[in-house]
Amino acid sequence: MSSDLHSRKTAAVEVKDLHYSIGTRRLLNGLTLDVAAGSSVAVTGPSGSGKTTLLCCLSGLIAASSGVIRIAGVDIAQASAGERAAMRLRTVGTVYQFGELLPELSPLENVALPVLLAGGNAKKAYADAQSLLEDLGVQTASSKNTGSLSGGERQRVAVARALIGRPSVVLADEPTGSLDQRTGDVVADLLFGLPDRFECALIVVTHNPQIAARADRTLELSQGRLIADSEGSR
Ligand SMILES: Nc1ncnc2c1ncn2[C@@H]1O[C@H](COP(=O)(O)OP(=O)(O)OP(=O)(O)O)[C@@H](O)[C@H]1O
Ligand SMILES: [Mg+2]
Repeated sequence: MSSDLHSRKTAAVEVKDLHYSIGTRRLLNGLTLDVAAGSSVAVTGPSGSGKTTLLCCLSGLIAASSGVIRIAGVDIAQASAGERAAMRLRTVGTVYQFGELLPELSPLENVALPVLLAGGNAKKAYADAQSLLEDLGVQTASSKNTGSLSGGERQRVAVARALIGRPSVVLADEPTGSLDQRTGDVVADLLFGLPDRFECALIVVTHNPQIAARADRTLELSQGRLIADSEGSR
């Protein structure tokens, strides 16, 4: 098998010539990105350069103006809002800056929620959520109220929620941005361990150069495109 065929088979994220405009401003302007299953990419760039917008396009939350966005081999760029929502539930897990958990639900219910929303079996969803929380070392947090979790516990529960659907790609938008350095390192350890453990792709948006350096590749979003910043050590 040629290496091209091999990479095509294992590509979790393939973006070609992606354009996204807000009004007259071309925020994403011919952007290209390939992330293989089992590998990680950090995306850096100044505030307002479009990093969150890019993640929203990749997760299908917003529709691209044009281009190709293949997630696990399926092009979502031209898909309807309903198809993008279904794809998001099946193949993408997302971690935001503040955990963004629902405080009315327990940590376990927060983790199980994506599967419940997708119409999955409730008993299995709760069992999977419990074992993921144990796997990720958050079992003590799971007995607390969601509202009383520390920032680090919130983020680890959010990582478990991102993984519950066994996604092809995990997207994290400044996942350590609200944490002190030590807690941020714990969350970063967890995140950068995911591609190997769960055979997913990981894309982390961060302003923190130490976090970015832990990814296999660092790309900078500049003038609507991703530019190679450095090669990681793996
Ligand atoms: N719905 C919207 N309507 C109008 N402008 C928007 C909208 N969403 C984003 N923008 C603008 O698009 C630009 C890019 O925003 P985006 O949130 O993607 O940047 P970012 O790189 O994530 O920045 P930060 O590092 O501060 O999070 C900003 O100038 C923002 O104000
Ligand atoms: Mg942002």
